[in-house]
Amino acid sequence: MKGLVLSGGKGTRLRPITYTSAKQLVPVANKPVLFRVIEAIRDAGIEEIGIVIGDTGEEIRAAVGNGRRWGVRTVFIEQPEPLGLAHAVKISRDFLGDDRFVMFLGDNCIQGGISPLIQQFSHSDYNAQIVLKQVNDPRQFGVAELDDDRRIVRLVEKPREPRSNLALVGIYMFDAHVWEAVESIRPSARGELEITDAISWLVNNHYRVFPYIHEGWWIDTGKKDDMLEANRLVLEELEPAIHGYVSRDSQLIGRVIIESGAEVINSTIRGPAIIGEHSRILNSYIGPFTSIYHHCLVEESEVEHSIVLEHSSIRDLPHRLEDSLIGRNVEIIRSPLRPKAYRMMLGDNSSVGVL
Ligand code: G1P
Repeated sequence: MKGLVLSGGKGTRLRPITYTSAKQLVPVANKPVLFRVIEAIRDAGIEEIGIVIGDTGEEIRAAVGNGRRWGVRTVFIEQPEPLGLAHAVKISRDFLGDDRFVMFLGDNCIQGGISPLIQQFSHSDYNAQIVLKQVNDPRQFGVAELDDDRRIVRLVEKPREPRSNLALVGIYMFDAHVWEAVESIRPSARGELEITDAISWLVNNHYRVFPYIHEGWWIDTGKKDDMLEANRLVLEELEPAIHGYVSRDSQLIGRVIIESGAEVINSTIRGPAIIGEHSRILNSYIGPFTSIYHHCLVEESEVEHSIVLEHSSIRDLPHRLEDSLIGRNVEIIRSPLRPKAYRMMLGDNSSVGVL
């Protein structure tokens, strides 16, 4: 089997972070979501992975490289315009040939990986397999309707009135019949070739399409709160480890990971939390569900339930920073200047909550 990872898109819901960077490269527990996707595919025994890229392609290429560090071979496939998930499949035909493959959206984060799914599909005579998850608000996803025997009756993309609470997870498995499906469908109302329509085509033409209902957690990390939630869930599963320096006057409580070259001095870290390589935590408190990426500084401050990206510093804050996603090279400091005022330089579409 081969793997196909979709890593295009503009990431509009994660602006301003995504003005300068691909959404799939935002880290969850200090590892980009895209790398977690590649690892899940690799762990399922797949060695050839095509990565579909768009506007942010250069950055994705640079971050992923040839895949050797994961023991896989990566091939990049350029999608000139974001014309939909089924379009992305269409342009990957040379890479995929007639092999069975798994397609995985590069911003999806799933508990427990995909090995059981791949096992089931690769030894089956299924033409396609989809993954479903019960969610509270299915309207933002593709939605599946099943009959009493758990057979797929209907699939609808982002229905206004969903007929079930089973959302389509961004993981799909196909055999070569998908080629006929993607050639047969027409663009949707949003002007895209929808993968949901291609799968519906297979169902309507009596191909063998089976659902797999996922019981663990699943997050589509499109927005800040989803990133924080994925970060929380992944942090809870990590094993504590100390590869950096922790001074004797510091306290680590619960699941805490200190990566190599990091320093924790006169500080308290209450896990689950991770401190990235070469970051310094000085006279501070880092609370649960926090990921500080590499080369950051937190000094005389408190940070909780947040993600801080690389090369940022947070100093002398009078109040705790919470529920925040802080970008790269950001500085948040208490200013001694008079008059007392907020002084900011924020990117377009930033959002700040003040006391
Ligand atoms: C896509 C699919 C949708 C699926 C979702 C999962 O939506 O079209 O069916 O439920 O991924 O992440 P998009 O995120 O492209 O709007």
